[in-house]
Amino acid sequence: MQELMDRICRDGQALSEHVLLVDSFLNHQVDPVLMQHIGQDFANRFAGRGISRVATIEASGIAPAAMTALALGVPLVVMKKATSAIMNNDVLLTTPVHSFTKNIDYMLMCKKAFLPEGENVLFIDDFLANGEAGLGAARLIEEAGCTVAGIGIVIEKSFQEGRSKLCEAGYDVYSLARIAKMGEGVIEFAVDC
Ligand code: G4P
Repeated sequence: MQELMDRICRDGQALSEHVLLVDSFLNHQVDPVLMQHIGQDFANRFAGRGISRVATIEASGIAPAAMTALALGVPLVVMKKATSAIMNNDVLLTTPVHSFTKNIDYMLMCKKAFLPEGENVLFIDDFLANGEAGLGAARLIEEAGCTVAGIGIVIEKSFQEGRSKLCEAGYDVYSLARIAKMGEGVIEFAVDC
């Protein structure tokens, strides 16, 4: 998506070979017009698949996923990373996820009621690094008796193994910007985006 790549070049900052700062438009301050265009792009790409729900993981996936759900005219389900008292009496789906970037383990969870059996779910997330969040989300969706219709990623770090893990697991992965290489002050995109 050219508009997103231009924005990354203009406002993104490669802090190291592994970390891209995009907090001025994606995951701290959010540009709603860009999010709307991102949502429309995902909706166009996955149109005609009978998608009945969009799912994401709190927190930074919510903005692009909400715009995708709006464009598709379906509900958005936000998977949570921590339990809360008001969820305690509900039937919960849970799965452990390890984040290599943040070096933490967390339980991903979702009320079963929000993933009724038979739904066709598009998973959207802000970053794809090692693929663990995507695999965890897909596990929950499938444990609920739903189908993963596809996985839409805003920024893929193609030099990490996330894409290959998700593709090997059989998922259709579509990324709006694919970063082939980063270094201090350098951001190179993969040729096919
Ligand atoms: P994986 O799911 O692909 O395995 O990736 P990993 O756990 O290693 O990293 C995912 C988390 O790290 C996400 O945040 C994601 O936004 C963040 N992340 C990964 N790479 C980058 C990067 O280059 N730049 C920035 N800014 N963030 C990155 P999260 O734990 O889901 O937190 P939240 O911000 O959504 O609350």
